[in-house]
Amino acid sequence: MAVLPTRLGADPAGGYGWVSIVLHWATVAVLFPLWFVGYATSHPGSESVLELIHTHTTIAVCAYALLWLRVLWRFRQGHPAPLPRQRGWSVRLGKAVHYLLLLAIAVMLVSGPLMAWTGGDAIHVFSAAIPSPLPKLPRLSTWLLAVHRTTSRIIMLAILVHVCAVLKHVAFNHDGTLGRMLMAARRTTGRR
Ligand code: HEM
Ligand code: HEM
Repeated sequence: MAVLPTRLGADPAGGYGWVSIVLHWATVAVLFPLWFVGYATSHPGSESVLELIHTHTTIAVCAYALLWLRVLWRFRQGHPAPLPRQRGWSVRLGKAVHYLLLLAIAVMLVSGPLMAWTGGDAIHVFSAAIPSPLPKLPRLSTWLLAVHRTTSRIIMLAILVHVCAVLKHVAFNHDGTLGRMLMAARRTTGRR
């Protein structure tokens, strides 16, 4: 079977290309610090809350383009077909959880900056600040905080389900599910 180079890192049929794999693991590396620093900001009384918010927004702004790229890349590429031994309702559930995670990231990327700006705050990135281009709308800001907060909890729950599912595949199914997110699949012509 002839093997062709993967064009511009696009996903070959039935697997992930390098772009998808790098985007997946880079997102894992960025999402956990963002989530935990963000979560720590929600504990009133701590004197370092402002510093934590600044750390959170610094990571968020630095990773902003990467996270959008990650979301848009999957919608553009579509989801790869299941592996031969991935079958049944769990395949549909897995795909639904993947898309839920991507949508939730998009919601965080929209609600985060809008929440800060409509609350009258600048967005701090290291020692610089991006001033608000919007008027102060406290009620909208409070609503966006609720959206940001609820979506962050949905993300954590979905990640828990996702990681448990991957562990189940590794421990019981031995079907190459983890392997295809570690090593790029090769594009083939289908000729022998
Ligand atoms: C996937 C990306 C993101 C994740 C996982 C995330 C996660 C979180 C979490 C868990 C909180 C604490 C919510 C609470 O319980 O009160 C939070 C707060 C916050 N996030 Fe994000 N966030 C993300 C993106 C962003 C972006 C892009 C911005 C703006 C540039 C942003 C700005 C903020 C601010 C200002 C707060 C503090 C809200 C307050 O208490 O006043 N976030 N974030
Ligand atoms: C250590 C933690 C993680 C492991 C071991 C892991 C593993 C995997 C594996 C093996 C797949 C391929 C499943 C398949 O298509 O058959 C996958 C896909 C996926 N994972 Fe994770 N994952 C982890 C964390 C995360 C996190 C934090 C997110 C949150 C954004 C995430 C989002 C996705 C999405 C959206 C897909 C679908 C393909 C894509 O768009 O990249 N994963 N993951």
